[in-house]
Amino acid sequence: MLVAKNKVMSAPAIETENLTKEYPHGFLNLKKRTSLEGLNMQVETGEVFGFIGPNGAGKSTTIKLLMRLIFPTAGSARILGKPISDIEMHRDIGYLPEQPYFYDYLTAAELLDYFARIHDLSAADRKERVQRMLKKVGLETAGKIQLRKYSKGMLQRVGMAQAILHDPKIVILDEPMSGLDPVGRREVRDIILELKHEGKTVMFSTHILSDAEMLCDRVGVIVGGKLRGVGAPEQLVDVKTQGMEILFELAGQSVAPVLAKATRSGDRYRLQVPEAELYGAIEQLRAAGARILSVAPVRATLEELFMNLVEADRAQAAAIEVSGK
Ligand SMILES: Nc1ncnc2c1ncn2[C@@H]1O[C@H](COP(=O)(O)OP(=O)(O)O)[C@@H](O)[C@H]1O
Ligand SMILES: [Mg+2]
Repeated sequence: MLVAKNKVMSAPAIETENLTKEYPHGFLNLKKRTSLEGLNMQVETGEVFGFIGPNGAGKSTTIKLLMRLIFPTAGSARILGKPISDIEMHRDIGYLPEQPYFYDYLTAAELLDYFARIHDLSAADRKERVQRMLKKVGLETAGKIQLRKYSKGMLQRVGMAQAILHDPKIVILDEPMSGLDPVGRREVRDIILELKHEGKTVMFSTHILSDAEMLCDRVGVIVGGKLRGVGAPEQLVDVKTQGMEILFELAGQSVAPVLAKATRSGDRYRLQVPEAELYGAIEQLRAAGARILSVAPVRATLEELFMNLVEADRAQAAAIEVSGK
């Protein structure tokens, strides 16, 4: 194989191979539930990667496996080219768990100082670092207030500050936007974008598609413990053009057959046709005296793709239950 000499071949930031987790369940724990099934996924260095899926899809399971909080039934994972059993490597990871809990009576500054101690920072370094982190997440004026007085959005930002305090190369966030209002989500999004500009690799899970669409270089869609697609958000949904939509105006009555399929509001109509039938439909409409306002391809949104996958998964689960497996 020919490889350019000056090209550095770097390993993906995160890489999983056949990563699998089964939990025992049911009577006497005799049955097994597969929460994650043979995950093969790569997160490239410097990208923002969104891990999207409905509740129970296996997102937190994957993240906890990467963090070594739980152990796989099969398969393996590497981060920064090292096996995840490498304790030293974990210093380069920042992690925000799903729904973190912090002791209420600490101030944000005290909490961050505690984490800075864990990371072995000297007293002088700690003070400077804690202030810098508070500023970064927009809490510089709230650092001396006890966390019990914080809003959900502020707490989430303290959690982000905790995750990036030690300047990790990789930041892994489990549902960082969940439970936040649009303002809070925007603030978390801005922090993630800033991390990306600093050259960090960010992987975060979410069930909020619009946040992923806005923020991610690539997303992985996971449903029912299985990865169903990986790619740039627009790439994932572009695969399937669902025909063309014609928007037109038509005053009065007409008997053109295509009109039967159009949806009407006032004098305006919307009509969706397969691409092959576009010109025929336009001819009919013009003959009927319609004024064409626009013609555009109909693209499935990420949400539609997602819903289709979820429905297919539910149908499959129901079929398994019926057949008594
Ligand atoms: N400790 C556990 N014991 C048994 N089942 C679990 C455990 N943790 C998670 N699960 C199951 O694994 C599946 C995936 O869960 P999770 O990874 O938390 O999903 P997500 O984070 O995508 O919402 C769910 O069906 C969940 O009930
Ligand atoms: Mg979860």
